Amino acid sequence: MRAMFSTVAPRYDFITRTFSYGMDRHWKRAGLNRAPLPDKPVILDLASGTGDFSLMVNQRYPGARAVAVDITERMLQLARERGVEHTVCGDAGRLPFPDHSFDCVFVGYGLRNFPKLDVAVQEIERVTKPGGRLVSLDFFLPANTVMRRLYLGYLYAQGAFWGTVLHGKPRVYTYIPDSLRSFVSIDDFSSLLSRKGYQKIDTRRFILGGIGLHWAEKR
Ligand SMILES: C[S@@+](CC[C@H](N)C(=O)[O-])C[C@H]1O[C@@H](n2cnc3c(N)ncnc32)[C@H](O)[C@@H]1O
Repeated sequence: MRAMFSTVAPRYDFITRTFSYGMDRHWKRAGLNRAPLPDKPVILDLASGTGDFSLMVNQRYPGARAVAVDITERMLQLARERGVEHTVCGDAGRLPFPDHSFDCVFVGYGLRNFPKLDVAVQEIERVTKPGGRLVSLDFFLPANTVMRRLYLGYLYAQGAFWGTVLHGKPRVYTYIPDSLRSFVSIDDFSSLLSRKGYQKIDTRRFILGGIGLHWAEKR
């Protein structure tokens, strides 16, 4: 997985915009807009990739401290080149931070890639301050089975196309439908958050439930 993300890193931003029809920034901004943060928030951008959430938070809150964490060093290198100051190479399953460190944890398209989703959510909850927030944007399995099949087929075809065009390897971007196949729906993830100690869980659905934004407050 880490090797695959190192391979896609230089093309990652282009692919994200393409797969989201250019809506990715808008969805991330919507995630940030509805997260009530203090004036000088301390935030974790988990599975940060090239650091979109960190950059958005720093721009909106000039006194913020945004820490970008990713398991792929190549992604963090690109994040630093884009101006992200604080980067840590680490695993979502074992975050190198004390309890109650962050006002908010942002996760952009990260959850599906974590081998143990419930362990990662537990870690996120641990490092969040009481009353702090989780904001997640991710691909989800549409609840409708026909939609689900169509959506996975479509993502597979799109991934194979761009993998062939950009890398000469059709399988490079099919990790998106592959990781999604065994993932959960938007409602299932809301239930998991509730079980793991979150309240005031709110969601927004895009692309007929294929993309979801979650906001949740740690109890
Ligand atoms: C699809 S990219 C998302 C990048 C960025 N957050 C965004 O919104 O565009 C997923 C990222 O998750 C990282 N990742 C995968 N497994 C991880 C783990 N166990 N812990 C931390 N990061 C992980 C990958 O290296 C990759 O950069």
